[in-house]
Amino acid sequence: MAMMLQLIFVLSTLISVTVSIDVFGHFGISVELDIQHPVPEFHDLFWVFNRAYNVLKYSKKHKESTFYSHYKGRVEFNVETYRLTLKNLQKTDSGLYEAKASGNKVRVVAEYRLSVLDPVEAPVLTYQLNRDTYIITLTCRGHDISIHSSCSIETCEEKEVTSPGGIALSLSVKSSTVICNHSNLVSWKTDILELKELKGLCADKGVTGYIVGGVVGVIVIILIVVVITMRKSCGTN
Ligand SMILES: *[C@@H]1O[C@H](CO)[C@@H](O)[C@H](O)[C@H]1NC(C)=O
Repeated sequence: MAMMLQLIFVLSTLISVTVSIDVFGHFGISVELDIQHPVPEFHDLFWVFNRAYNVLKYSKKHKESTFYSHYKGRVEFNVETYRLTLKNLQKTDSGLYEAKASGNKVRVVAEYRLSVLDPVEAPVLTYQLNRDTYIITLTCRGHDISIHSSCSIETCEEKEVTSPGGIALSLSVKSSTVICNHSNLVSWKTDILELKELKGLCADKGVTGYIVGGVVGVIVIILIVVVITMRKSCGTN
């Protein structure tokens, strides 16, 4: 058992050393990148972008942080936790971020892969009534995906599709609202419709029924009256 735990521990440290953590953000927000591993004794600590550009250097001896130009004014550094905060994200900030503690040896103490994504576009929810069957079909359309669902009087079929890259489109019903939700890993937007509005369509069917029924009824009565009157007039002659 102890062996097993030890093995798991060794494996997990191996994995945590070699695998970078995915972080997703969208244009304009901030992300915080924390140190992931114990920091050994060091002289300088660097946060490095794409293995080539220094974001900042912290000198322990002088308790001094040096910020490099690319991120001018968009970087904060916590000298106690060594956390890096990137503010006002730009698409070009996507890439690999590593923290390296440099002393006797160089140790990677954090590794993140940042993806800056665009927020999703607002979806559009529309409905269509089939005048023959009185079935209502909903269409929930996101950027280049769409889903269809049909509704009964009480509720609508719920559906969801997810495309690679974590873009999802879902159609759901909560209390009396139909929600079309377009989302990706960093944002979501919805378009909604009240079930009431759909029930209104079905009520139209009822009203039309009454009108048609009423008109037919009146015509039948008129015909009967006409026939009776004709018979009467025939009889008296
Ligand atoms: C929309 O979808 C996202 C992602 O699945 C979820 O976090 C969010 O709560 C949903 N919004 C609504 C209003 O259902």
